Amino acid sequence: MFGKDFWDERYRSKPRVWSGAPNPQLVAEAASLRPGRALDAGCGEGADAIWLASRGWTVLATDISGVALDRAGQHARDTDPAAAARIEWRQADLRVSVPEPDAFDLVSAQFIQLPPELRSPLFGALAASVRAGGTLLIVGHHPSDLAAGVPRPQLPEVFYTPEEIAALLAGPWDVGVCEARPRQQQLPDGGPVTVHDTVLLATRRA
Ligand SMILES: C[S@@+](CC[C@H](N)C(=O)[O-])C[C@H]1O[C@@H](n2cnc3c(N)ncnc32)[C@H](O)[C@@H]1O
Repeated sequence: MFGKDFWDERYRSKPRVWSGAPNPQLVAEAASLRPGRALDAGCGEGADAIWLASRGWTVLATDISGVALDRAGQHARDTDPAAAARIEWRQADLRVSVPEPDAFDLVSAQFIQLPPELRSPLFGALAASVRAGGTLLIVGHHPSDLAAGVPRPQLPEVFYTPEEIAALLAGPWDVGVCEARPRQQQLPDGGPVTVHDTVLLATRRA
């Protein structure tokens, strides 16, 4: 379930899978950063990449799913052609296609949920792709969500704490945020529930 066919099928199953809005933790953490070159790893339908590009970032947006990328590119061209011109959409399996090292001022990975033997090398490679002075932002579903009554894949191994991700950082980093951040979400029946996002923000020392 972690490969291209799974994700292409997931995206084909609905005209739109995600909200179309940028992820709240990206907006909270990246709004104050000076635009440069960004990598959106696992960009899905592209809302984060479009938001970054609309703020002046040049974005490499990668995803394993070509179906998601076609949709993301169309959404960008329809909603913000100027931003669309600053985004390169690239199909890549980040487990095997490692991003260029020391190449990005911001690397953002939002809700890539993989078991530890896959996510540790993947997140390690994402960290290595941040240039000196740049920012790494990893956001994911916190393990406490498994008991929150919210629909989540019943695969405990794909959930992670911010401390587990911080422990993967090799070399000189300043960790600015390492927390389980609460967020309100709606249950399928419309009722409110508090979920927690793992948020790890670190700056690579120059
Ligand atoms: C839960 S979705 C999140 C999408 C987007 N980041 C967002 O927050 O709206 C996870 C995304 O990661 C992508 N993905 C999963 N495994 C991947 C891999 N090995 N390489 C690249 N992308 C991957 C999926 O296709 C999917 O679009």
